[in-house]
Amino acid sequence: MKQSTNILLSFIAILAIALAAAAVAESQIAGNVLTGIAPYLVLAVFLLGFVYRIIRWAKSPVPFRIPTTCGQGKSLPWVQNNPVENPAGPLGAIGRMAGEIFLFRSLFRNSQAEIVNGRPVYDSAKWLWFFGLMFHLSLLVVAFRHLRFFTEPVVPFVMGLSALDGFLEIGIPALYISDATLLAGLVFLFLRRVFLPQVRYISLFTDYFALLLIAAIAATGLLMRHFFPVDLNAVKTLAMSWVSFAPPAPANANVLFYLHLFFVFVLIAWLPWSKLTHMAGIFLSPTRNQINNNRSQRHLNPWNAPVKVHSYEEYEDEFRDKMKAAGLPVEKE
Ligand code: HEM
Repeated sequence: MKQSTNILLSFIAILAIALAAAAVAESQIAGNVLTGIAPYLVLAVFLLGFVYRIIRWAKSPVPFRIPTTCGQGKSLPWVQNNPVENPAGPLGAIGRMAGEIFLFRSLFRNSQAEIVNGRPVYDSAKWLWFFGLMFHLSLLVVAFRHLRFFTEPVVPFVMGLSALDGFLEIGIPALYISDATLLAGLVFLFLRRVFLPQVRYISLFTDYFALLLIAAIAATGLLMRHFFPVDLNAVKTLAMSWVSFAPPAPANANVLFYLHLFFVFVLIAWLPWSKLTHMAGIFLSPTRNQINNNRSQRHLNPWNAPVKVHSYEEYEDEFRDKMKAAGLPVEKE
């Protein structure tokens, strides 16, 4: 499929979801289903999908040590080992995983190749790391801040985080730094897929859709916060009813809230079936979480089926007379 079709289709998909959400907001019954039943359904789909994906990954055989290494492995005592890039023990592997999960270490090592005067030239490329990390951390902060709707009294950490996030005090209500960085990250990641020919070539519908879906959530959230305020008390009462399994109170909110919620539910239900499950996959990635002790331990594939071999020795024993008769050389007389 042409790449521009993928981009167009993803915009159309987001628009279709927005229209469906607007229709839901118009109908009392559909609105009640969205706020009363959908949260539990979505959670069930999410949990089932997540568990299913993890079980499938966990069941994949990993017979060999296959950690990716880019540092000196542990060997003789006088050879200096790189314990993080080539971990020889669990602490090193944990350190490496932490670097990967919190700082996207391998993306930091990203490089790009260019042909300059007919020769390939390799250069470091940090922009993807920078915007990728910024986007993910912002999303995490936004998610933490949302806990104010789901906890009573609000966890002090969430209050502190919100205060810190809005400390620039730009506008009323204050613009959160994480909202600005979330949007900047999304714009970079989307434009990268649209304008870089190599990345555009390998981008699928779902790559654009995932970014646009999160952008739609952020956009509706920002509109609610800064331009079309919703009754936050009503939202909190609703969110508290979900977590306490009480009958949901009327949402008493504008159409933007329904759009926001609808987009969020689509994201959460779709997440386990999409590439966005990389947030769980990273923990189960053998190339990252294994230790490299290939030099000190022999690893045998536990699933090796017994192989029936016919050695040359046996072959010669079987055919020695015939070989000799045909004048062929033999090892044993
Ligand atoms: C994937 C999950 C979600 C994401 C990424 C997300 C994202 C955002 C963003 C970026 C904003 C802009 C302002 C801010 O950062 O606070 C926002 C606002 C808002 N969100 Fe969400 N949201 C999510 C889930 C939810 C849920 C489940 C609810 C329902 C309780 C909700 C209700 C709201 C409300 C009421 C606002 C306006 C806040 C205000 O006026 O201060 N969001 N959201």
